[in-house]
Amino acid sequence: MLIRQSEEIPSSEITPKEDYINRRRFIGSAGAAGLALSAGLLSTREAFASTKLQTVKSALTTTGEDLTSYKDVTSYNNFYEFGTGKSEPAIYAKDLPTRPWTLKIDGKVKKPLTFDIDTLLKLRPLEERVYRHRCVEAWSMVIPWIGYSLSELIKLCEPLSTAKYVQFLSWYDKKYMHWPGQTSINWPYSEGLRMDEAMHPLTLLTFGLYGEVLPNQNGAPLRLTVPWKYGFKSAKSIVAIRFLDHQPPTTWNDLAPDEYGFYSNVNPNVDHPRWTQKTERRIGLPFYQQKRTTLFLNGYADQVGSLYAGMDLKKNF
Ligand code: MTE
Repeated sequence: MLIRQSEEIPSSEITPKEDYINRRRFIGSAGAAGLALSAGLLSTREAFASTKLQTVKSALTTTGEDLTSYKDVTSYNNFYEFGTGKSEPAIYAKDLPTRPWTLKIDGKVKKPLTFDIDTLLKLRPLEERVYRHRCVEAWSMVIPWIGYSLSELIKLCEPLSTAKYVQFLSWYDKKYMHWPGQTSINWPYSEGLRMDEAMHPLTLLTFGLYGEVLPNQNGAPLRLTVPWKYGFKSAKSIVAIRFLDHQPPTTWNDLAPDEYGFYSNVNPNVDHPRWTQKTERRIGLPFYQQKRTTLFLNGYADQVGSLYAGMDLKKNF
């Protein structure tokens, strides 16, 4: 994004669908991981990193496109808490302490709630949803995420009529920073959505990908996925959700308001001041096959277009 980014894309093969389907037959080993834990065989982090998640099919899944390989999804990341290079999160986020983990929900709600991550995981059936993932840097992937609609959680808190926006705050601990002094980011990472965007069923509270719990570098143990927006709207490793009567400050908008708007809907008609948003590179494909046309609202216009009816999306970029 704003910071240096010109690394070579690691090119690896797309995971054959059969391989992926076979891997998913191994679901339901959470109990086994728990046993190993109590037997003292695995550390807490190792136990959860090997946990498969039981999922149900979702009507909200995107079909027809090849998945980006597990390797590319988990080794080409943006997670600035753990470095600016695409490969750094996979190395340094190993230190992210994902258990115990608490999510605090407060602000303009009737019922402020606090959840332990393992309670949250069991709150609703976990769905597998394949979504297109489009970064503002003009690269994209196709990822089988696991989670349930954020709206399911929001309903439990009974938001007040004054709740117009939702803010998401990421975990942050200075002692885990691997590049102190090189950032003007005001931590913790903050993102926000308008209430109707947060309530849209496509907005996914995400616990896993490719049949397993989220790898740390992808935002373990809990992140957001908002498939019609640029990737930076999807905060990783969330510890707090706040309901507000005003638009919250958000990390990239704070840093460069002319480059990153609050809405940040994927929009091929509004270029970034320094590059085009009309096309994107699909990560993992051979170089000559990478380039493709970016779709308005990342291809989700039929589902979410009405949220922006009458709005000037060039002004509200
Ligand atoms: N969340 C936090 N806490 N810190 C970050 O640096 N990067 C964002 C978003 N969420 C980021 C974050 C950006 S710029 C993108 S493109 C996506 O995460 C990347 O998600 P991925 O690495 O799983 O592809």
